[in-house]
Amino acid sequence: MTHASSSFPAPTEKRVDSYQIYEPPIGGGANGQVYVAANHGSHVALKLVKRRAAEAERRAVTRYCEELYKVRGASDLGLLPILHYGAYQGQLDYYTMPLADELRGPLTNGFPTDYRPRTLAAHLAEKKRATIDEVIRIADELLVGLGQLHRKELVHCDIKPENVVCWQGKWCLGDFGLLQERTAATSTAIGTDGYIAPEGTGDYGGDVFALAITLMKVAVSGSRLATGNIIANVSKPGETLPFDDPRSEALREALVKAADRNQDRRLQLPEFHARIARLRRRQTVRLLVDPDRFGDLADVMRSHGFTDVEIEYVQ
Ligand SMILES: Nc1ncnc2c1ncn2[C@@H]1O[C@H](COP(=O)(O)OP(=O)(O)O)[C@@H](O)[C@H]1O
Ligand SMILES: [Mg+2]
Repeated sequence: MTHASSSFPAPTEKRVDSYQIYEPPIGGGANGQVYVAANHGSHVALKLVKRRAAEAERRAVTRYCEELYKVRGASDLGLLPILHYGAYQGQLDYYTMPLADELRGPLTNGFPTDYRPRTLAAHLAEKKRATIDEVIRIADELLVGLGQLHRKELVHCDIKPENVVCWQGKWCLGDFGLLQERTAATSTAIGTDGYIAPEGTGDYGGDVFALAITLMKVAVSGSRLATGNIIANVSKPGETLPFDDPRSEALREALVKAADRNQDRRLQLPEFHARIARLRRRQTVRLLVDPDRFGDLADVMRSHGFTDVEIEYVQ
């Protein structure tokens, strides 16, 4: 069965509960494979978790859902929702999420047969120069998401470009497979090499460190600073980020301080976020329209990429 609004190929015979699975998988990492799946005509991302990882992932994702559902309804979470968690034939665990945006931009005719998710890793692989406004926006959106987790005393433990996706035009944190409660006393070193803070990943600072490195990669993408040791490149005295913009040095300083190897000197999340938010340039649009009739205009504009527009209705 194919859905009329979709240009996906027909799904394979493979099923997970009531979900029809499309081969090949769209992604995979250490803990499982992610597929496009259809259920009653709508498409979702379905992660089939490897058996050896199932117990830990179930614990992490369940914890995430318990906390996230309490704040559901807030539209700007900066976190990718989990839609459904289930067990497949009593053996494998799976869960579903909304599909990330398509790498090549908004699509009007459903999904293409060669759908590719816009993860931050895929975005960086395009090797385009980001503008400073893009870097600041990505930073701001991810800091909102991380702030949500930290306020619940949860740490993500695996922030990196592969685990960040663009969904409905916004960047959000995904892959909660290593999420855990904050453990200030006993730091662990789970996570991904190159993003693990010197003191480990169990505390808030480990997430800040990993996010700062992730954002540095975005900031230097496509420039000469992108090769070699990025922290060393960006931290070098007198170095500048590749932007011709008066905010460039303040951005560099915030990233360098948030990626400080010494956790006592490292910026903490609220200060990191405040510095980024101060750099954000917002435009206010005043509209002489009836908010009852055009109340969703802000959502429409955001979905078209006008993410820094704030609408003020004038009646
Ligand atoms: N909701 C989603 N929409 C589209 N692609 C996704 C989604 N979630 C994950 N992916 C893709 O699958 C990859 C692996 O998913 P992830 O949850 O990070 O699993 P792992 O634990 O195996 O790393 C991601 O890097 C991404 O490319
Ligand atoms: Mg992952």
